[in-house]
Amino acid sequence: MANETPSPQRLAMTRPDDWHVHLRDGAMLSLTVRDTARRFARAIVMPNLDPPVVTTAQALHYRQRILDALPAGLRFDPLMTLYLTDQTPATEMAAAKASGRVHGVKWYPAGATTNSARGVTDIRRCEAVLAAMEDQDLPLLVHGEVTDPAVDVFDREQVFIERELAPLLERHPQLRVVLEHITTRQAVDFVTQAPPRVAATITVHHLLLNRNALFTGGLRPHHYCLPVLKREEHRRALLRAATGGNPKFFLGTDSAPHARRDKESACGCAGIYTAHAAIELYAEVFAAEAALDRLQAFACFHGADFYGLPRNTESLTLERKPWAVSPQIGEGEDALIPLRAGESVAWRIASELEPSPIGHEDCVA
Ligand code: NCD
Ligand code: ZN
Repeated sequence: MANETPSPQRLAMTRPDDWHVHLRDGAMLSLTVRDTARRFARAIVMPNLDPPVVTTAQALHYRQRILDALPAGLRFDPLMTLYLTDQTPATEMAAAKASGRVHGVKWYPAGATTNSARGVTDIRRCEAVLAAMEDQDLPLLVHGEVTDPAVDVFDREQVFIERELAPLLERHPQLRVVLEHITTRQAVDFVTQAPPRVAATITVHHLLLNRNALFTGGLRPHHYCLPVLKREEHRRALLRAATGGNPKFFLGTDSAPHARRDKESACGCAGIYTAHAAIELYAEVFAAEAALDRLQAFACFHGADFYGLPRNTESLTLERKPWAVSPQIGEGEDALIPLRAGESVAWRIASELEPSPIGHEDCVA
């Protein structure tokens, strides 16, 4: 058509940040840190290790282990978080803030997801901690699902917003809150209507997939995450939020690796690994929505502004040139099956950051 502008083949942008990632610990770190740091300048690092990161001292040690795993030549700033428990002392909040390294406190309702057993049994037990967070201006990062087994698993986010989040925001009028990895139209509407102190992250898998992806041709454990994928109408609402330019919505991959044996199991773990292709997959999503011009704000500006951190000054260039994702990363029982395993991703990083990737980025074009 005469008036149609050709879709762009290259996209130069500020280097993005990931405002929600699971890097894990130990041997896994060399993979996760490399994949995340090749793309993102900074990342909010989730504290749900086993045992969890509950003190500032533990967060600082964990940060050092992440930096020790960083390949030479990559610049990456891990932004640490604390794992809220029923026993967290309010005094820890001043130490966390004073460290300059802890940027949020994560509320996992006990039993809601991976390594949440030591999470909060009742948020009303944490009133003094939440008040201290208000004083210190430390954001609360929320896994927004009720754990009530009587509530349908697909409704747990919506019910959490009504039962837990709305009353909490009333009780703590200064508290800044990130509703993490939102998955429903109700969450989009709630965050949109909330005051500016309330924001949300959106994963790329919830933008790409609806719940049919759990059952395509059979049971697909590598598409299982929490909150679980939802109906297409909810994916459409997330797309509108991510591409709509509202500064309350920003990028958070929730990349959450689990070994293949733990996913392909009679009781498989929740979590999808996306760090190997994260910004490239977001580019696919935004390109499909004819909204590539909105990707930079979503991936680079909104999160930094919310967290009160400077925007990055480095740049990253993406180009539309497909590459094949390896069928698995690593070997044997410990292998990891990444999103799009054995399939292709349409965008790639053009301005290669060192070191070059190992094994899972062969060009198919
Ligand atoms: C995460 C994990 O594996 O740590 N899993 C997931 O499905 N997203 C935990 C979480 O963020 O819920
Ligand atoms: Zn997560």
